[in-house]
Amino acid sequence: MMVDKKPAYELSTLEKRVLLTLDKCDGSASPENLVKKGNFDKQVEVMNASSWLQSKKLVTIETHIQKEYSLDKDGQRYLKEGFPERRALQFLIDHNGVASISQLSSVLARHEIPIAIGWMKRNKWATIEKGKETILSVTKIGKQAIDKKTDQEKIIHQLNTAPQENIPNQLLQQLVSRKNVIKEKERVTNTIQITDQGKHLVKQGIEIKEELSQLTSAIIKSGAWKNKSIRPYDINAFAPTIHGGKPHPLIGLIQEIREIFVEMGFEEIQGDYVDSTFWCMDVLFIPQDHPAREMQDTFYCQHPDKREIQEEQLLKNVASIHENGGDTGSKGWGGTFSKKASMQPLLRTHTTINTIRYLYHHQQPPCKVFSIGRVFRKERIDSTHLPEFHQIEGIIHEQGVTFRQLIGMLKEFYKRMGFEKIRCRPGYFPYTEPSMEIDVFWHGKWMELGGSGIFRPEVTNAVGVTNPVLAWGLGLERLAMLRFGLSDLRDLYISDLEWLQHTPVFIKSNSKQ
Ligand code: PHE
Repeated sequence: MMVDKKPAYELSTLEKRVLLTLDKCDGSASPENLVKKGNFDKQVEVMNASSWLQSKKLVTIETHIQKEYSLDKDGQRYLKEGFPERRALQFLIDHNGVASISQLSSVLARHEIPIAIGWMKRNKWATIEKGKETILSVTKIGKQAIDKKTDQEKIIHQLNTAPQENIPNQLLQQLVSRKNVIKEKERVTNTIQITDQGKHLVKQGIEIKEELSQLTSAIIKSGAWKNKSIRPYDINAFAPTIHGGKPHPLIGLIQEIREIFVEMGFEEIQGDYVDSTFWCMDVLFIPQDHPAREMQDTFYCQHPDKREIQEEQLLKNVASIHENGGDTGSKGWGGTFSKKASMQPLLRTHTTINTIRYLYHHQQPPCKVFSIGRVFRKERIDSTHLPEFHQIEGIIHEQGVTFRQLIGMLKEFYKRMGFEKIRCRPGYFPYTEPSMEIDVFWHGKWMELGGSGIFRPEVTNAVGVTNPVLAWGLGLERLAMLRFGLSDLRDLYISDLEWLQHTPVFIKSNSKQ
């Protein structure tokens, strides 16, 4: 036989003690016995050491499952009151050996009568005559049975003192068929057995001496380690995988994006989820009859039913730009601007609301800001659409910035994210001109990632800005889908534990430095 020689020094003191105790017990014992014979403190010590020894192939642990029976609720009742057939027999004897079924109801519950009759017949305790009334007459066997316990009765008395493992099969079947008389429980017992490898090791000699299995600074400082042996670290030892808590991968991705923008000289801004239609759409020169404003596309809030617009002058500017272009040189959209529609509160449909508001409060260039936040749209949920998602928004406000710089900046961002193949194509947004859509090439297909452009004068003039402003709004979830190799956006949010445990959280500052 080939024996893989495991050196004994790879064993802990407890493991060595279990092996030596097993050897004393002829190589096989229950954990309870090992505790006694080996003077262990607790059974868990023995079980833990044994499972380590098992993983090192020095012992085997055999598990036996034994069925154990105890009294169930009817069993307990019968113990006190007697089985229904016993009560019926007693009644017959007390009534000169004959009784009708209806008379039996003085000692039996209604549902017990058929049980009693059935078992009296099986035990041959009575004969039954069916006439107008069914009459039971006691037999000779019945008379003899009056002061003899049946096997069933004997067993329920035994079960009352202690649970039993070995009930003869036929009797067990009878008791089980009576329902609720006995109940079954599984008892698990273990036998630990030394293997040939284990025996071999014991033969070679196992020495038990005090070992250090953990070095602490106190032990190092005191020098106590010098005259103790230090247990070698077994790097092949089995250890369970531990999944600690960690941020959701999407949080890691957001952090990575945040760091890229910060490295590129941007500052982060934020905003609220609930805002007015004015800030979300009107300031951005989205016409008041634009289809995206419809109830089926946007979540409007009912309570409160309006949000006052504090910026009176801005409201006036925006209204006149919508109606006739104001002094921007544009013709506007025509019609009458509705201030009431402006005040309607909504869940923001894009984060451009954050950058435009920032621009209004910081009219002097230069400025470079970004925001990563959640937006809400009434989308039908499918593999590439969710009603709640995140946008990566940003602006560059600087004298003389150009469209080429916008392309350069976005390409740079995606490059830093690991996507080299980017396509820019003309797009349309009511608030930018020119406008551009950005696609990324992934697995042989172009996938749309976001929109961008230079804010129109109808937008910048209203908020008091004269220099060009480059603006973009990119989808986060689609980027995440590419990064994590998912084919369905919903997978990001279903809390699939397996996926969450196995997807690394890339937080750039940690992973790169
Ligand atoms: N707000 C646009 C969207 O939600 C994206 C965008 C932002 C386009 C800024 C142009 C400029 O899709």
